[in-house]
Amino acid sequence: MPEHEILPPFPGSAIPHVGTYRRVLPVSLERMYENTLDWEHLPYVHSSSFARIDCEAEGPWGWRAALVGARGDASVIELRLDRACRRWITRNLSGPAAGAEIWTHVFPIESRRVDIVVDFFVPGVADEQRSRVGEAYARLYERLYDEDVAMMMGRQRQLDRRIDAIRDNEHELELGAREDLRLPLAVNLGGREYVLAEVQKDLVVFPRQCPHQLGPLDAQGLQDGILTCPWHGYRFDVRSGECVSGQRCRLDNLPEIRVGPSGGVVLSAAR
Ligand code: FES
Ligand SMILES: [Fe+2]
Repeated sequence: MPEHEILPPFPGSAIPHVGTYRRVLPVSLERMYENTLDWEHLPYVHSSSFARIDCEAEGPWGWRAALVGARGDASVIELRLDRACRRWITRNLSGPAAGAEIWTHVFPIESRRVDIVVDFFVPGVADEQRSRVGEAYARLYERLYDEDVAMMMGRQRQLDRRIDAIRDNEHELELGAREDLRLPLAVNLGGREYVLAEVQKDLVVFPRQCPHQLGPLDAQGLQDGILTCPWHGYRFDVRSGECVSGQRCRLDNLPEIRVGPSGGVVLSAAR
């Protein structure tokens, strides 16, 4: 009698493989892992797919979260990252797609170029329906990755620019008479980029990069003195710099705005 018996798969026990999505992305493996572990961006960067997320557990292993889709459907999703295999598995633990698994493998081609292969496994799909379901998943992932690439490349650009910015060390800027300023106004000061804007007739200044993960801040996200970042939805009071959405984060070292000797608006970098 053999020590191990190899059994054929039990009929119906395997989750049917319904399709594969493959794409080359112009980002590093590091940006990919960062994006994968970043559950917070889902309802913001992917607002057409997700309305809300509440994290239940997270760590270097991945995360588990309760998600509400853009159409109001609730599910619990777990993502497990295996760096040694350059792979992560997303499992739908409950909800309309309960039991579905999405396996993503990443193959680095160059330092900032990766090939991704995403396999979709969905239970309860009849053979003749597999390609239709697989195509729907592939279309969804095409859109999600379009959105993610924009975010990952934006963050990479900001990380690269931080190195250049150290050389630019202008600490004071005379901007001219207030009535001549065309607000909002982008300015460079002390090697950083800021936006000068107006809140209830007062001038305010805030950085163009979010202190969380360098998301793009601009005056479009400013309402009644509260600035919202489009990547994870952190909200900041632009006058105090405080984060008013509950995270441990703040707009630090905001420049001082004052009137110079000649009557013009002067910005001084915080030291
Ligand atoms: S980059 Fe995350 S909230 Fe701004
Ligand atoms: Fe994403």
